[in-house]
Amino acid sequence: MDLGRFRELLRWRGPWIVVVLAVREILKPLVYWHVWDIFGTDISQRVPQPYAKDEVKVKIYAPDDSLVILQEQISSLGELEAAEVGRRFARGDWIAIAFLKEQPVGYMWIALSSGLELAFGTYWIVRSREAVKYGSFVLPAFRGLGIHSCLNSGVCSYLCERGFIRTLSSVSILNTQSMSLPKHNKTTRAMTVLLAKFRFPSFTLRKSFGAPLSSRFSWSGLPSSSAESRGTSQTPDCGSAALRE
Ligand SMILES: CC(C)(COP(=O)(O)OP(=O)(O)OC[C@H]1O[C@@H](n2cnc3c(N)ncnc32)[C@H](O)[C@@H]1OP(=O)(O)O)[C@@H](O)C(=O)NCCC(=O)NCCS
Repeated sequence: MDLGRFRELLRWRGPWIVVVLAVREILKPLVYWHVWDIFGTDISQRVPQPYAKDEVKVKIYAPDDSLVILQEQISSLGELEAAEVGRRFARGDWIAIAFLKEQPVGYMWIALSSGLELAFGTYWIVRSREAVKYGSFVLPAFRGLGIHSCLNSGVCSYLCERGFIRTLSSVSILNTQSMSLPKHNKTTRAMTVLLAKFRFPSFTLRKSFGAPLSSRFSWSGLPSSSAESRGTSQTPDCGSAALRE
């Protein structure tokens, strides 16, 4: 890890979390683990509002849009390789891109069907009229301006307008920057999930707190039935923060 990234971690996550992250890296040859809070938001009742001071435009792209240009644009923004972007579009995922004064500054992915892996062979169960928001990213120079809240609001209102009723998301309990959004929106946690992959002997520990893991995840291979839904009915009070490109 370079010094700049270390400083950023220390500043925004604090020394205790940095120590836990370091211990996890040291133990990686033996065991690696994640702990996520899982959130579900009923967007048919209320769409979360953005809280950026600047005017941020959010546009949503689907796999049938100009793929090659999009792949290049998205990978030029951050850490994602064009091949990974292609894999996500091949699964049918959508992407929301945030623009500040016409400049793309961040994105959020949207999975519409079961098949998205949380980690270690554990997959989201996505039911009819549900979508998972994942893989949010904001360019480092534009962080702390509430752009994540604009992406979130734009995605929720776009989905609400298309008849979706619930969005789902997972946030690592060690990612304080990402945890800021559900805290700000007072989103209720549905469950906490612990996944740990041991090397010797090789096995995966899966544990949930607050609700049964099987109510939201499957793990014996890829789920056979995809509960994909692309509803079309209009729902009132969805806002109009996002544009379809
Ligand atoms: C998580 C992330 C998307 C948040 O985006 P954002 O637009 O900066 O979000 P916000 O402006 O609401 O700021 C969120 C938190 O970042 C921290 N923050 C504030 N200013 C910051 C800055 N200049 N640089 C970095 N982090 C900052 C604060 O903890 C803030 O929370 P607070 O407002 O409650 O104090 C962004 O930090 C990011 O891309 N991180 C790397 C990728 C990642 O971890 N993605 C989440 C995985 S799903």
